[in-house]
Amino acid sequence: MAISHAPPQLSDVSHELSLREKIATRSALVGVIGIGYVGLPLAVEKAKVGYGVVGYDRNANRVAQVNTGSSYIRDVPDGDLAQVVANRQLCASADFSTLGRCDVLVICVPTPLTPNKEPDISHIREVGAEIARQLRPGQLVCLESTTYPGTTEEVLLPLLAATGLIVGKDYFVAFSPERVDPGNKRYTTRNTNKVVGGVTAACLSMAADFYQQTIIDVLRVSSPRVAEMTKVFENTFRAVNIALVNEMALLCDRMNIDIWEVMDAAATKPFGIMRFNPGPGVGGHCIPVDPFYLAWKARQYNFHTRFIELAGEINNHMPYFVREKLARTLNQRSRPLKGSKILMLGLAYKKDIPDWRESPALRVLELLADHEAVVDYHDPLVPSFVDERGVARNSVPLDAARLSEADCVLITTDHSNVDWEFVVRHAEVVVDTRNATKHVMHRRDKIVLL
Ligand SMILES: NC(=O)c1ccc[n+]([C@@H]2O[C@H](COP(=O)([O-])OP(=O)(O)OC[C@H]3O[C@@H](n4cnc5c(N)ncnc54)[C@H](O)[C@@H]3O)[C@@H](O)[C@H]2O)c1
Repeated sequence: MAISHAPPQLSDVSHELSLREKIATRSALVGVIGIGYVGLPLAVEKAKVGYGVVGYDRNANRVAQVNTGSSYIRDVPDGDLAQVVANRQLCASADFSTLGRCDVLVICVPTPLTPNKEPDISHIREVGAEIARQLRPGQLVCLESTTYPGTTEEVLLPLLAATGLIVGKDYFVAFSPERVDPGNKRYTTRNTNKVVGGVTAACLSMAADFYQQTIIDVLRVSSPRVAEMTKVFENTFRAVNIALVNEMALLCDRMNIDIWEVMDAAATKPFGIMRFNPGPGVGGHCIPVDPFYLAWKARQYNFHTRFIELAGEINNHMPYFVREKLARTLNQRSRPLKGSKILMLGLAYKKDIPDWRESPALRVLELLADHEAVVDYHDPLVPSFVDERGVARNSVPLDAARLSEADCVLITTDHSNVDWEFVVRHAEVVVDTRNATKHVMHRRDKIVLL
């Protein structure tokens, strides 16, 4: 791939050489800002190969937990974290006044939406301003938070450039999106390819050198904008394909065709198709959020991303469809939603992870509560949470009595460690939005699929 930037001149390279050497010899001090789902695994990976790592976070609980070696991210085993903390390779801090000491700074802060579904990049701005206050020659700054194309060069870079230091000569800036798939055992931080785009050629090669220390395949692209667009495209691809399958599920419901049987059959085609599953909607920090970053940016170019808007509309409709399906199921038993006891199984937005941010189950729960249904939930990975009305809720145990007392059991997450056989045996009726019960052979007459 042709890289458009001019290579640095020899006279420019003194900071470059010393930083490059520190990266190669793993003597660089790495600061990871935001130690959540993305930042903590990255901090631990870097510490494991010998870098000194400081995890910065403004959440004092997370800082304290890291310093005692106890992990709050499922993909980071306590043992791994405890070991790097005990070896003094990793510590956490809420004191940002030491950022200037780090040779490499990796930004992994959240990029949510405002209530009007516009990008909220305030965390990137705050962190960028803090780094700028302490910027010194010989630092590499990498942004990993998912964001719209242009953020690195239009938002982060101007903050740093205002110091008067020269990018690509005194300090280095790159964007490299995180592709972590929480709960995925096959593809981890190490064996998932990583895309990197630098502001200059020197920035690109510095950042690529850094990532190559812990990641098998690093792909260099010509600019941060390409890397930023790559990431939002990947998540838009998922959002659109999930929406397509969800729309098929709505049509199949109307036509009385089993969508799951259709998906199983279509997936046997050895080329030209990729499996996506329908469900109660999309959740997490990425799929419901990132496409709207792109849609927002596109509007600056007088361009309307129709696929994104349509996919958002269909995916957002799914919790309403789940409510309708549940109401129809109860109706067949001559019961209204109002006053019916619903036992909801699963709060996490996908299987086998404890993350309930933006989970469609939250929306379903809210819609059922609007209709005065009496809803309890069980999720072995989410023991408690605060619902959209600010009410604290606790997961109830999954036992025969609770299952049989419920007018309907509603499956919203297909966690692996739930005994679905047991659920179907004791429930009066089950509405299954995930096909979690596909291997249950007895009493299929009790199961209503999405
Ligand atoms: N979770 C994923 O699966 C995933 C995958 C790929 C990319 N991403 C992207 O990575 C970024 C981080 O996501 P995450 O899931 O790790 O979020 P997270 O909420 O798990 O972690 C972010 C951390 O940043 C801290 N933080 C917030 N503002 C801060 C500030 N101003 N200064 C210092 N720390 C601050 C928070 O306390 C939190 O601990 C987002 O842009 C997200 O879209 C997430």
